[in-house]
Amino acid sequence: MLCQSSEELQALVEEAKKCTIYGKVADYIPALGKANRDDLSIAIHYPDGSCISAGNIEKKISLQSISKVISLALVLMDHGPDYVFERVGMEPTGDPFNSIAKLETMAVAKPLNPMINAGALVVTHMIKGDSIEERFGRLLTFVQQLTDDPDVSYCQEVASSELETADLNRALSFFIKQHGIINEDVEQLLDLYTKQCAIEMNCLDLARIGVVFAMDGKDPVTGKQLMPEEVARICKTFMVTCGMYNASGEFAIKIGIPAKSGVSGGIMGAVPERFGIGIFGPALDDKGNSIAGIKLLELLSKNYKLTLV
Ligand code: DON
Repeated sequence: MLCQSSEELQALVEEAKKCTIYGKVADYIPALGKANRDDLSIAIHYPDGSCISAGNIEKKISLQSISKVISLALVLMDHGPDYVFERVGMEPTGDPFNSIAKLETMAVAKPLNPMINAGALVVTHMIKGDSIEERFGRLLTFVQQLTDDPDVSYCQEVASSELETADLNRALSFFIKQHGIINEDVEQLLDLYTKQCAIEMNCLDLARIGVVFAMDGKDPVTGKQLMPEEVARICKTFMVTCGMYNASGEFAIKIGIPAKSGVSGGIMGAVPERFGIGIFGPALDDKGNSIAGIKLLELLSKNYKLTLV
């Protein structure tokens, strides 16, 4: 077991919270700008179903880029790895998450990986279904299975707020459409993508998803295999190589676990065979990752030797 109790975890939260003053809440999606910079909460979910937590864990946050891991798992199940990786690559970029730079300089305009926005848009494009409603419904059902919570839904306000301001993602989508990587209506794709990013849940649900990935795609509580082991392995590998964007190398050295962040301040961690982690801390660093969330993971990793290598 990690911390012996939620009290022990609370002490680490208090320590990590000190650095929220150096962070900034994301406001390029206006609805996210309402978050409280000083919030920090964490839940850790163990395979035996027990959970420890600290902070205001009832607060719901939108998944934002954390959803990219889940949509990737779904399309890998929909199409298989060969089809998916013909359309999106496997390499880290070292660039910011919304950068267009590499698309222009690569011989083929295929996005380098599914965790940057360009790659995630290609992944969302691959979600099977005859309409946006059906495709989003399939994704949401999968999230509800992962959390074992049929009430998980999305925040309409956050989705609309992003849709209205997503011109950079529009530009990325038009670019990859022009190069034949996607072939659907860009506005429809953005509607689906912004709803995906606006799926919301609390830290407990996030930690529950983490433990499913940690246990190779099997929900250890219900015993259901929610995705093939190979799909969970691919997703965890992307979390290690690209999960924290252009901070993934430093994160791997300092913390060393598969994790995925989002601009709402969420981090989902999956410590293989051990537990899942859900964090919410909306103050972000200059790379778009939760500043106090990373500090908290650093403290946990140091204290409890979480690094994989
Ligand atoms: O596409 C966007 O800009 C957001 N919906 C998600 C970006 C994000 O979470 C990047 N994370 N650090």
